[in-house]
Amino acid sequence: MRILAIETSCDETALALLEASGTLYTPKFKILENLVSSQIAIHAPFGGVVPSLAKREHLKNLPILFDQLKIENSKLKIDLIAVTVGPGLEPALWTGIEFAKGIYSKLKAQNPKLKLIGVNHLEGHLYSFLLARKTGIFNSKFPISKLFPAIALIVSGGHTILLLMRSLTSWKKLGETRDDAVGEAFDKVARLLALPYPGGPEIEKLAARGNPAAIHFPRPMLHDRSYDMSFAGLKTAVLYYLRDSDAPLLGGRSPDRERRGHLRSLQEKADVAASFQQAAIDALVAKTERGAREYQARSIMLSGGVAANQALREALKVKSSVLKARFFAPPMNLNTDNAAIIGAAGYLQALRGRRRVFRAQGNLNL
Ligand code: KG4
Ligand code: ZN
Repeated sequence: MRILAIETSCDETALALLEASGTLYTPKFKILENLVSSQIAIHAPFGGVVPSLAKREHLKNLPILFDQLKIENSKLKIDLIAVTVGPGLEPALWTGIEFAKGIYSKLKAQNPKLKLIGVNHLEGHLYSFLLARKTGIFNSKFPISKLFPAIALIVSGGHTILLLMRSLTSWKKLGETRDDAVGEAFDKVARLLALPYPGGPEIEKLAARGNPAAIHFPRPMLHDRSYDMSFAGLKTAVLYYLRDSDAPLLGGRSPDRERRGHLRSLQEKADVAASFQQAAIDALVAKTERGAREYQARSIMLSGGVAANQALREALKVKSSVLKARFFAPPMNLNTDNAAIIGAAGYLQALRGRRRVFRAQGNLNL
């Protein structure tokens, strides 16, 4: 099955072309094209995504990316169009949905069996590990059923969710963040440290030069019996630390500022970044570990934009090997938003014969 996938839920306009085969027990994917047009530079001055600008950019970029796929010229036969319908920014989602409808009516002439389906963005992240070529499950000898039960941790700019997966298609939500998503906390702390948007990668870079044990930030809800998490308090703790530690980071004149000089301030920033990152990772790993122990998970799957964080990947990998569970994370280019993951989720959904309401659903859940 050849799939055209479209993703416009936030600030990336993304189109992908995939070939998919196999059943729900042996799905296989080959990514032919995975185009992402990032709007980072446009939203960066605002410190976050501006929905109206995102919509305008999607409208502009979708036809440009589509032309690059050369589907019409080459008369490439497409069997399925998969488009994100939520969760995300509704004006942004609509641009993808309307574009998908237009392409569908055009390509239907070439293939009367063409299907059009709406995909849950979170399922895209969840299934992104299936696109890793190197992992053992992709030589079909490994029965996919042996991965389960599994614990899946989805960490992005909008979500932080812990799932118990019984199979590739059945799961139960164990917990989620009660306030900010962990990616959002990275972005907000980055702003406190005067780092550019999006903050996640910037914090990670700076943290590599800092001491993660320099400052003890709280690990919220660590001892709470639920699987829920919370990251707003951690962000506030960083804010108070910066305010109270006479650090020159928040601007203003401090007598220390001149005395410490630029280097001292950079080191302090790095220590704050490293200590914050460590607190966030500890909270994520602790809940994942508890879930894995309680349900005797045979594997742990990490996904979402924050899965790009090497320190988090490493911590979960180490924990998985202690727990004798297999660890999966998407390849590095498939952590943050892209359409290949939407294509994979679309394929599994088509195999299940499930249909989603075909309209933008900003708050769509798993
Ligand atoms: O999945 P994603 O691309 O978009 C959403 O669905 O939200 O995730 C974006 C989030 C942003 O908050 C970004 O700061 C964070 O992922 N992120 C990271 C890293 N790379 C991206 N957070 C921590 N470390 C990273 N290396
Ligand atoms: Zn995402």
